This record gives sequence, structure tokens and C-alpha cells, in this order.
Amino acid sequence: MERITYLDNAATTFPKPDIVHDTIRNFYSTCGVNPGRSGCDLALKAEEMIQGTRKKIAHLFNKSLIDSGKAKDPNRTVFTLNATMSLNLIVNGTIDRGDHIVTTMLEHDSVIRPANHKSREGAETTYVKPDPEGYVNPEDIRKAIKKNTRLVIVNHASNVIGTVQDLKAIGKICKESGVQFAVDAAQTAGVLPIDMAECNISFVSFTGHKGLFGPTGTGGICVADDAEIAGTIYGGTGVRSAQPYHLEEFPYRLEAGTLNLAGICGLSAGIDWIAQKGMDNIYRHEMELLAMLQEGLEEIKGVRFWGTKSLANRVGTLSITIDNYDPADVGMILDVEYGVITRTGLHCAPLIHEHIGTGARGSVRFSVGPFNTKEHIDTALKAVREVAADRCS
Ligand SMILES: Cc1ncc(COP(=O)(O)O)c(C=O)c1O
Repeated sequence: MERITYLDNAATTFPKPDIVHDTIRNFYSTCGVNPGRSGCDLALKAEEMIQGTRKKIAHLFNKSLIDSGKAKDPNRTVFTLNATMSLNLIVNGTIDRGDHIVTTMLEHDSVIRPANHKSREGAETTYVKPDPEGYVNPEDIRKAIKKNTRLVIVNHASNVIGTVQDLKAIGKICKESGVQFAVDAAQTAGVLPIDMAECNISFVSFTGHKGLFGPTGTGGICVADDAEIAGTIYGGTGVRSAQPYHLEEFPYRLEAGTLNLAGICGLSAGIDWIAQKGMDNIYRHEMELLAMLQEGLEEIKGVRFWGTKSLANRVGTLSITIDNYDPADVGMILDVEYGVITRTGLHCAPLIHEHIGTGARGSVRFSVGPFNTKEHIDTALKAVREVAADRCS
């Protein structure tokens, strides 16, 4: 492979750990049958692997509960194809005509669009503004909650500027207001600890292909034991086929059709890899690289930062623009001439661009991952320096 400097880990982490590839190859070649559809040994083994992965994910988001000796029902962890599908299931399964959703301007369009579709059908959505740095004041969530609010849904970490929101404070407000609380953990599952009980979270929506190091086509929802949600996709459970309506019990309530067996065993291996490396070690490494990148960029004439420069309450993502350039052109030059891969434009999050001032053209986003090195950061800085020098001297 041509030498590249991959700094687009917020889109998907790349590469994945070797163990993920090895596990998929080994498991899928020896056990790639349809789980839950027959009683043969292979199907049982496949089912066992899936149940084991549900359990690992349930533990990941419920540490305080497990540590206190209580059980978390693994069947309330359901698999989907990605975070977008999870967020659609959450919005569609909790919101009816006349209901109100509170969310934020930091959201990905996998929240904005389902919420807007619901609004078009007679629900209502409030988008809470963060401060200029990109942090939401939890009290603004409280102010936005009304009698008919049924769901507060918050992006844990921005995929544009990396700001991390205070889930504990928001969850407390949701509990006091009797409103279900959903967290979009697309950028934080596997990156930062998330504790459903401590933060009063009803639904954690996760994707498998970013910080959990699984393959694309994996994701899910961890549903709290007292959370209420209706199923909105039906059929293909492989059990009780004579029943005319979809099953109410978890995980079937939110799962329909054959699961992504190869993907889920890869996801399971990704979670094991995080446990082996230590989530905080991975995070520390990424934040060291982010700090180095940020410091270097700050010294380059013509580079503008958008969102916070704070390294606290942050993940390894930053957004810049370069004066006299369209962000899309910067991304293309970095890629074609320097092999530096970033992501440009709106990053599926138009409202936060509107809020921070990057408008319709968006930004150039750099996002680090565990396989990045200081050399990668040096390469990226040298490239940005040369690009900026062309038009900003
Ligand atoms: C904050 C956020 N939410 C949701 C998504 C959607 O994730 P997926 O690609 O798994 O559908 C993304 C993907 O970039 C994201 O960054």
C-alpha cells in the first residue's frame, strides 16, 4: 500500500487491530452459519459468540452496576448496522405525534434527520445551543424541557470539534424531569468510560467501526432495564415464526433479520483489544498527538481553529480552515500531494458549523487514532505549512 498518513479516525478507525481481522477470518470460516435458526452445534456456537458480545457491551456501559454485584440483562443490548440505524430506532421508538424532543446543535444528522422527520409528522424538536467553544450548559437542557418532552438526546462527543458533554449533569436533569435520556456515543464508545446508571442514561447508541475497532456494518443500542421503547422494524427473528406480529421481548424487539455474524465477532475482538491495551492508555496516546498537532497548527500563518482549544473534556478531533482556501481544496491537496487523509465539509453535522461560523463550506477535520505516531503528526504539519504558505504569506 502506498504510504499514507491517516488522520480520519472520526470517520472510521483505520487500520483495525490485527486480532480483529484474524478473529473474523477464523470464526467466519469455521462457524459462519445463521445463528438462532437451527439447533446444530455450529449455530449454537454462533449464538454463543453473539450473546458473549452482548454481554461485553453491556459491561462496557454498566461498570458501576456490575461492580455493585447487580446483573445487567445482556438481551437489552441489541445489534444494528451502525449508529445511524440505532439513533433512528431510538427516535422512532420513543416519539409520537405531539411529543417533544430536546437535542443540541452538535448533533450528527443521524439524529437531526429522524427528529426533523418526526417534527414533520406532528412532533416538535428543540436544538439547544452550545457555548461558542462547543460545550452545552446542562441548565439549557433543563430550560428546554417541556411537559410533552419525551426524549433528550445528546451527542457525547462532537465529530467536528471533539467537545465532550457532561452526561452526568444532563442525566440528572433528565431524571428530575422524568424524561428518557439517549446518548449518541458514536465518537466515544470504547474511547471514554460511559456509565448508564451513574448518568441516568436510558439508551446508549454506539457504532462498532470507530472507537470499538469492529468492522463497518456493526453498531447497536444498550437499553436500560427501565427504559421504554417500541420496536419499529419487524420480521426475520428466526423464532416463533407462526406469530403474526413481531416479538416484544429483547433483543428481538429492536432486531429484525439475520445479524452481521462476521461483523459482531470482529467487534467482540475489538473490545478485547481495548481491554488489553487499556482504554485510558489509548486515550492518553491520542490526546498527546492531538496536543502536538494543535500546537503545531497554531503556529502556522493563515490557519484558523474552530471550536475549543481546551484539551480537557475533548476527544482527538479538531477542525481548521486555511485563509484563502475552500476546505474541500485543502483536503484534496493534502491527500493527493502529501498522502495526508483528513475529512472536509460539514461532516454530517450542519448545525454546529452554522453555530461556530464555518457556514456552508465547513472545515478540514483531523482526527487521530491509536495507530498514529508523532511522525504522522510531523508529516501533517509539514503539509499544512506548505499549503498555507502558498496563499497566506
Ligand atoms: C456523532 C456521530 N453520530 C452518528 C454517527 C453515525 O455513525 P454510523 O456511521 O455508524 O452510522 C457518526 C458518524 O460519523 C457520528 O460521528
